[in-house]
Amino acid sequence: MKYEIKCIGILTSGGDAPGMNAAIRSVTRAAIFNGIRVKAIYRGYKGLISNEIVEFQTQNVSNIIQQGGTILKTARSTEFRTAEGRRTAYENMRANEIDALIVIGGDGTFTGARIFAQEFNVPIIGLPGTIDNDLYGTDSTIGYDTALNTIIDAVDKIRDTASSHERLFFIEVMGRDAGFLALNSALASGAEAAIIPERETKVDQLEELVRNGFRKSKNSSIVIVAESELTGGATGLAERMRSEHPEYDVRVTILGHIQRGGSPTAYDRILASRMGVAAIDALLDEQRSIMIGIVNDKIVHVPFTKAIKDDKPVDESLVGVLQILSI
Ligand code: F6P
Repeated sequence: MKYEIKCIGILTSGGDAPGMNAAIRSVTRAAIFNGIRVKAIYRGYKGLISNEIVEFQTQNVSNIIQQGGTILKTARSTEFRTAEGRRTAYENMRANEIDALIVIGGDGTFTGARIFAQEFNVPIIGLPGTIDNDLYGTDSTIGYDTALNTIIDAVDKIRDTASSHERLFFIEVMGRDAGFLALNSALASGAEAAIIPERETKVDQLEELVRNGFRKSKNSSIVIVAESELTGGATGLAERMRSEHPEYDVRVTILGHIQRGGSPTAYDRILASRMGVAAIDALLDEQRSIMIGIVNDKIVHVPFTKAIKDDKPVDESLVGVLQILSI
């Protein structure tokens, strides 16, 4: 017998990302277009447990496509990690007549979704929402492009002062354990180098930087560093640089949460809009426990297990491109 879906719940979870609102708008409108009711769940899984659930009409998502953050709020729920928390979440789903869930977030969000779907046989579809771009099965995640643009805007400004004072700047960017933001923002901002966790076990990246004579005729240098215990972060690298090469005038900037905010770029808005409609299509097509991805401009369905566990490697050949372009 066909499992009929009359009502979906939608939530955002984990770190917010620009474009999440465009995704909420798209999912809501695509569901209503298909005759499915929509219940907005506030504060991610936390709100599912504490029953913060409100019915949405199309006008609830008016005027949000351009807004950063998430109108649904977000949280990282420890209670959802317990069997008891998930049981309460399921009971609230039933009480609110929610037949299926659309969850927008990163790998923590999908890990929770996978377990919940298995325990209670709940249809769940995920949308990749994280600035880190660290999910297997999609060329880009919602929020990544906006974060990249925020970074290059900041780096352009830092370059002005770096060049006036003839300084070396280590600029730390987010990305958790992945170097996508660091490597691609370095390319886009014309930085001298990117120091990323993926290469840390293979080569002494700071040593490589100095060996390549990165300063040469230039009067300032920008090095983008991916946050990570492996790289030591911008602060750790600056300390090392000061003690090993005191001839450089070194400064550090940690961009921090500025990277998570702001109005989404056209790319992220389009990505989120396409993925939201694809999520409802997938549900109606009886797809379960999958993340929507876009690969080579085509919608794909990626099982949660693969999206979470499979590695999405950065293209390390881009380090070579960066080296050529920074001579
Ligand atoms: O996963 C998204 C992300 O922004 C990472 O890049 C960063 O390491 C982390 O979240 C920061 O998390 P919090 O919201 O707890 O500061």
